[in-house]
Amino acid sequence: MDGTLNQNDISHVVEADRAHIWHHLIQHKPFETGEPRIIVEGNGMRVWDQNGKEHIDGVSGGVWTVNVGYGRESIANAVRDQLLKLNFFAGAAGSVPGALFAEKLIEKMPGLSRVYYCNSGSEANEKAFKMVRQIAHKKYGGKKNKILYRDRDYHGTTIAALSAGGQDERNAQYGPFTPGFIRVPHCLEYRAQWDLSGEAYGKRAADAIEEVILAEGPETVGGLCLEPVTAGGGVITPPEGYWDRVQEICQKYDILLHLDEVVCGLGRTGTWFGYQNYGIKPDMVTMAKGVASGYAAIACLVTTEEVFDSFKDNPSDKMNYFRDISTFGGCTAGPTAAIENMRIIEDENLLENTKKMGARMIDNLNHLAEKHPVIGDVRGAGLFCGAELVKDRRTKEPEDEKLVQAVVADCAAQGVLIGATNRSLPNLNNTLCFSPALIATPDDIDQITDAVDKSLAKIFG
Ligand SMILES: Cc1ncc(COP(=O)(O)O)c(C=O)c1O
Repeated sequence: MDGTLNQNDISHVVEADRAHIWHHLIQHKPFETGEPRIIVEGNGMRVWDQNGKEHIDGVSGGVWTVNVGYGRESIANAVRDQLLKLNFFAGAAGSVPGALFAEKLIEKMPGLSRVYYCNSGSEANEKAFKMVRQIAHKKYGGKKNKILYRDRDYHGTTIAALSAGGQDERNAQYGPFTPGFIRVPHCLEYRAQWDLSGEAYGKRAADAIEEVILAEGPETVGGLCLEPVTAGGGVITPPEGYWDRVQEICQKYDILLHLDEVVCGLGRTGTWFGYQNYGIKPDMVTMAKGVASGYAAIACLVTTEEVFDSFKDNPSDKMNYFRDISTFGGCTAGPTAAIENMRIIEDENLLENTKKMGARMIDNLNHLAEKHPVIGDVRGAGLFCGAELVKDRRTKEPEDEKLVQAVVADCAAQGVLIGATNRSLPNLNNTLCFSPALIATPDDIDQITDAVDKSLAKIFG
């Protein structure tokens, strides 16, 4: 740490935090006696806490966000310059960085053409849901308004986004939910719902979506919202055959395919977008976390020209366009940081690095699985990896959540931040999560998996 805060300052910060901050996703009772973690500084792959302890960050800011790593001066400088020139103007008008980032983004997304700015993944997803609903009104007399979502997927924290949430522990106690959201089965073969494997399994899992559509009535279903690789629901990479069939089903029943790239977006899986690993053609794509690597809050909803065109209408009808507002979608810091973030990914060949380092991480985790029977399954795409912990490989009984969290805590004590699925699925919060920045080196990857090795040995013997 650079030492700009002395011990008195830090003690004051800790007390102010304990007195006034309501942290996300955490029980605060333990802070009555213990201290909350405060991250003071970051550089590259590493962060320092209030005690000056260094950690390698294996989770890109805790929630798969800081894709290009900490301390990027060029992003800070670009944002500073832009803020002085123009910090904000509401989105009914354009901005210079807004237009330029949209152009660059669309270059990476063949088949898509329009960018709608907002400021969180939840918000971007809500906007996509609103588009599906309004298209139902404009084209189908309001009838084709149901939106399908998948068991174990997550699309955000607001009530409508939770209504499309396939994680029952996230949703518990926050109902009643918005009507018109219908769940389809997940596609994780390790927790198989059909006695099939490989491509046959993938097709069957997609067929299950068709069964739901037929049960609901295809004339009532307007959208299907899926994560390309499920993140907090257990790092679920889709089986072979799944996506082709999903695409066919959407085409067959005229259903808009909305892909939630909030985690996969901007390089996490080694391609610009997760869906590009599977050759899918979405109608709508949402993204947030990695768009500007957390240097500014920005989210985007990107659509095809066809979706956009369905809102172009007679200007004398005052209700006929997309009547949505996002105040902070007009902040120029977001697209400015995003332009520089994208330049860094390109100039430093970070997609290539993500593929290589992702393969190394999966290799390392597979080696750990040979030593530690508690690892039941290793999954991942690029630097987006998971290891599911089980009590018994044969029965696949999930490992005790407290012990899974003990692994996370023990790694942190070793100076390595990793994650685990958390308050998502009843009895299935048992997957360790790894999502280091795309700049990770072989030594960084090995440092992370070595710590996991030690923790597993300590906790499970
Ligand atoms: C797949 C996915 N979609 C949406 C969201 C919601 O994003 P935000 O927290 O920016 O609202 C998240 C957040 O973790 C996510 O993982």
